[in-house]
Amino acid sequence: MYCKEVNLLHDNLSVRDGHLCFAGYDTVELAKKYGTPLMLLDEQRIRNTMRTYKNAMEKYFGKESKPLYASKALSCIAMYQIAKEEGIYTDIVSIGELYTAKRAGFPLENAFFHGNSKTDFDIEYAIENGIGYFVVDTSDELYALDRIAEKKGVVQKILLRITPGIDPHTHSAISTGKVDSKFGTAIETGQALEITASALCMSNLRLEGFHCHIGSQIFEIEPYCDASEIMLGFIDKVKEELGFTPTILNLGGGFGVRYVESDPVISYEENIKRIAEHIDSYCEANQLYKPTILMEPGRSIVADSGMTIYTVGSVKKIPEYKNYVAIDGGMADNPRYALYQSSYTVLCANKMNESPSFNCTIAGRLCESGDLIQENVMIPPVQRGDNIAVLVTGAYNYAMSSNYNRVHRPLVLMLGESERIAIKRESFEDVSRLDEFLD
Ligand SMILES: Cc1ncc(COP(=O)(O)O)c(C=O)c1O
Repeated sequence: MYCKEVNLLHDNLSVRDGHLCFAGYDTVELAKKYGTPLMLLDEQRIRNTMRTYKNAMEKYFGKESKPLYASKALSCIAMYQIAKEEGIYTDIVSIGELYTAKRAGFPLENAFFHGNSKTDFDIEYAIENGIGYFVVDTSDELYALDRIAEKKGVVQKILLRITPGIDPHTHSAISTGKVDSKFGTAIETGQALEITASALCMSNLRLEGFHCHIGSQIFEIEPYCDASEIMLGFIDKVKEELGFTPTILNLGGGFGVRYVESDPVISYEENIKRIAEHIDSYCEANQLYKPTILMEPGRSIVADSGMTIYTVGSVKKIPEYKNYVAIDGGMADNPRYALYQSSYTVLCANKMNESPSFNCTIAGRLCESGDLIQENVMIPPVQRGDNIAVLVTGAYNYAMSSNYNRVHRPLVLMLGESERIAIKRESFEDVSRLDEFLD
């Protein structure tokens, strides 16, 4: 089933006999075999990207430096298995993700627990399961964690999430490093220093360092350089005023991914190299201490290692308005266009040799006018039964999926040397499994 390579958005895409191939597999054949909507993952590309991060971080930041896979991008057993095999750490944001990582056999001492509103139950569960680090968001969490750690008889390692006051050029819904953010504690208001002082007084917590995450889908390196300068300056202040030297600085995730042709091509290795050089020269010029640097890529590890294939259900032409192509999925498996008008590349997988002369909007099948996947798309004229491919859907698609309208979530297929099911298709029984009859 292997196909010849052609130049399409990413080098894991190719065409054979007019069919779109992904990771060497014919997507039209896979759609026939497994049904649609079908999400495909390219195992080798996931591994390669994890290796790029790991090798570049060790090379440029130092041997101790590691990437954490931000598993909110796609949390499933297969992803934690791969992260474990590739020797990288992970970041989890709920005990649901923690439980999945645990089932995958991921060493939880290498997991970092994020979140801005962890419950006592979350905290207890994570401690009982030997989580490596909590990334503490607020003083409320700090006090709760200290109390629960004491009850459990442990000294828990923590990082503090700090907002450096950076505004990267990305969508406001995925920009998180500004002072006005629901995440973290701001340096600018003086609260970051206060929470650090409090953390250092807690006898059941061990402060190891600081974390910041400035946003997602960021193509420039300047916001990272700015954030590092601010964080290193803050660390210096903490050293001076509180006499504490942290061992870790986690710079978060956020590197951009190419969804459409107009997005730039970036090299993650080159980005890491340039950020590392910037940190080194800044530390040297200002005689600052350099802690171990961690980063938390999510989207850039899995987004372009994924794509989704659908079947056309109807084509509706409204003269002098527009054309709608309705597919058998939609915002329940990919809510990103409905949420923040994300751009996607859309192709007709079984008509790759035909000219893209038909302008249309790709609509989902859910009962919601906003259930669109992309507008103003150019594809060949299509009809019921054709296959629509939406590229670069590996991150924040399945992870954000829902059962709205009681549709079942798609099957997720991992394509490597063989095809393996990573997540089964949900069944009718699955979607009503928790319902009870009234007596
Ligand atoms: C704390 C934190 N770390 C890492 C990430 C991953 O970001 P990305 O998927 O853009 O790499 C996020 C995403 O929202 C985040 O909130």
